Amino acid sequence: MDYVNFGSTGIQVSQLSLGTMLFGSTCAENDAIQLTHRAISDGINVIDTANGYNNGLSEEIVGKALIGHRNDVVLITKVNAKMGNGVNDGGLSRFHILKEVENSLKRLNTDHIDVYFIHRRDLNTPLEETILAMDQLVQSGKVRYIGISNHKAWEICNSIMFSELHNLDSVACIQDLYNIVDRDVEVELLPFTENFNLGFMAYSPLGRGMLTGKYLVYQKPPKDSRAGRGDVRILESGMRQHSMEVAQSLKPIAEKYGKSVSQLAVNWVLGNPIVSTAIIGPRTFEQYENNLGALGWEIDSKDAELIDQLVPPGEHTGFGFNDPANPVLGRP
Ligand SMILES: NC(=O)c1ccc[n+]([C@@H]2O[C@H](COP(=O)([O-])OP(=O)(O)OC[C@H]3O[C@@H](n4cnc5c(N)ncnc54)[C@H](OP(=O)(O)O)[C@@H]3O)[C@@H](O)[C@H]2O)c1
Repeated sequence: MDYVNFGSTGIQVSQLSLGTMLFGSTCAENDAIQLTHRAISDGINVIDTANGYNNGLSEEIVGKALIGHRNDVVLITKVNAKMGNGVNDGGLSRFHILKEVENSLKRLNTDHIDVYFIHRRDLNTPLEETILAMDQLVQSGKVRYIGISNHKAWEICNSIMFSELHNLDSVACIQDLYNIVDRDVEVELLPFTENFNLGFMAYSPLGRGMLTGKYLVYQKPPKDSRAGRGDVRILESGMRQHSMEVAQSLKPIAEKYGKSVSQLAVNWVLGNPIVSTAIIGPRTFEQYENNLGALGWEIDSKDAELIDQLVPPGEHTGFGFNDPANPVLGRP
């Protein structure tokens, strides 16, 4: 496993991070704990969770898995998800963040979070209020670094300027969607990341499973797949005809290297030098082992060009199943 500096921070992160969104749902507790131990023993030193993953259950399982391993990893969690019925039980207000961080610390069974991520935008709260609350957490020692996910480059830039102006701790890293069929971040967010020397974590390197080649146009998704189980996230965003076609076109390229499409897809993400780490989200040990095969080799420039022809830099493929603009597939 190779490690790189996480942006301008002094921490080193592994090429692969372990995503735990499925812990407590399709990845049961015992498997999840064993998977975490295996990842740590393979050199993965970043564990990515969020308070909202399975309503706190993912954090609880990660907390159990890290007993005896807490100091071996960079522990990431996130805030914004709705965690209760009250009107203020979610979002990015100081009110919610200062309360919810205590719940995350309890579930994670730790006294500090290494990187605390603003999970997604909250249009009801000025980002300045959020940054002030995050800075307070850094000063109190409950958080080491601040991260931001699913925001526009200009919003992050504003927040950094605000932090600098007021001598606050500022955003150190970004987490966003990046893979062969979702290249939008190449337009604005990745150049911004590079320019500001931030860390970049690419999530969904397999397009939530699309870039495995297991989904075929006009065929029902396999029963044991995310789409087959009716997962809204993939159905609403990832499930696109062109993505399925791209995955099939990637097969001969992957085969040249003796690799699977999914290994090619993760390797491709890591081939972008602005990316610090790709967050894999395996559901099973078999998938995890397969994901590891993404490491230790390089896609040559001719094949990189072929991939650019399938999905040009800065672009993404077609429409989602649930997108009314999708003329072909409709809801499966
Ligand atoms: N910041 C954010 O807003 C955000 C958003 C999304 C994710 N994330 C983070 O990123 C992590 C990864 O996201 P993701 O789950 O979308 O990643 P992904 O790597 O794009 O998709 C993972 C899914 O693909 C399938 N898969 C994985 N390896 C496979 C293999 N070798 N063969 C066949 N299928 C395979 C599995 O689904 P099935 O087998 O069930 O089909 C697995 O759950 C999450 O756990 C989370 O930590 C963050």
